[in-house]
Amino acid sequence: MYTTPFHSSEISNKAFLVTGGAGFIGSNIVEYLLKHNAGKVVVLDNLSTGFEENIKPFASAPNFQFIKGDICELDDCIKACTGIDYVFHQAALGSVPRSIKNPIATHNVNATGFINVLIAARDAGVKRVVYASSSSVYGDSKILPKVEEQIGKQLSPYAVSKMTNELYGEIFAKTYNMQIIGLRYFNIFGPRQNPQGEYAAAIPLFINALLNNQPPAINGDGEQTRDFTFVANAVQANVKAMLEQNVAAEGAVFNIAVGERVSLNQLIGILKKLTGSTVDQTYRAERSGDIRDSLADITKAKTVLGYDPEYKIDEGLQLTLEWFRSGLKK
Ligand SMILES: NC(=O)c1ccc[n+]([C@@H]2O[C@H](COP(=O)([O-])OP(=O)(O)OC[C@H]3O[C@@H](n4cnc5c(N)ncnc54)[C@H](O)[C@@H]3O)[C@@H](O)[C@H]2O)c1
Repeated sequence: MYTTPFHSSEISNKAFLVTGGAGFIGSNIVEYLLKHNAGKVVVLDNLSTGFEENIKPFASAPNFQFIKGDICELDDCIKACTGIDYVFHQAALGSVPRSIKNPIATHNVNATGFINVLIAARDAGVKRVVYASSSSVYGDSKILPKVEEQIGKQLSPYAVSKMTNELYGEIFAKTYNMQIIGLRYFNIFGPRQNPQGEYAAAIPLFINALLNNQPPAINGDGEQTRDFTFVANAVQANVKAMLEQNVAAEGAVFNIAVGERVSLNQLIGILKKLTGSTVDQTYRAERSGDIRDSLADITKAKTVLGYDPEYKIDEGLQLTLEWFRSGLKK
């Protein structure tokens, strides 16, 4: 993956910070940057949900630096932003159920940590910040496909924390004349996504179950739909948002997805075919805070950023399975 560049400008003379770079999406961004000879790539991560193993392959690169630190500590953010041109902000506590169980922790990392990163970026003279928002901001809106300007009421503390990011992102861009772009990810999946723990996402959980001949457990009736998006598409969006010079992008938010949806029952069907498993799924109670249907309109990202999702769900799942089978999973 990542052999074709998504950017046209030179990056060998640029310094990048990836917060949450030891996590799933962050480590994929790091992989892309190092593959394309970025001048410097710094990761700030406290390893709370990420893993040192995810960045081990990069550790020996002379242009790579890992700072074990916490975005809740302004000093750690200031240290990490020193000498940095561009910040990819991925650090956060993901998961709706986690935020329902512990809203203070989610707020501290996702909202307060976010402002710390913005302040440190502002004071270091960072050129642009691209941050991870989430489709969860659409909340109870029934409109499909989701268009950036039409959101509903958020349904969980996690969704509120991501909405908070968007509000602060816009205000910081205006007040401090910063370039800040938010990407609303729609169910990202792929290599290095953690399949373990009570807050693991559906695709790694299902793959792990099927590969171990266990029945995958679906919350609800399985007819809920998602716009599942392979991680390389998200990396492309980040790179283009960061290095795209179109001023219309600044201070804006963009849906990052494929623009197609499948139900969880259909997803299991695809995975069973790809794995050759014959184990049937089981069903359990619906989760509170979850949205029923999710499908993105990606026109804005296509038009303004030149985003063009290369990977459809089947190809993405195939590559994800290969990674799981390679035994690199934890
Ligand atoms: N995966 C998805 O489908 C999805 C969907 C929407 C939004 N997002 C957002 O994308 C971003 C990346 O998510 P991911 O799936 O890669 O999750 P992840 O848990 O794999 O990565 C998050 C990383 O942030 C780090 N981190 C957490 N708290 C920190 C702190 N206080 N200080 C420093 N580092 C900290 C973790 O250790 C981890 O490495 C998050 O902001 C998440 O909310 C993800």
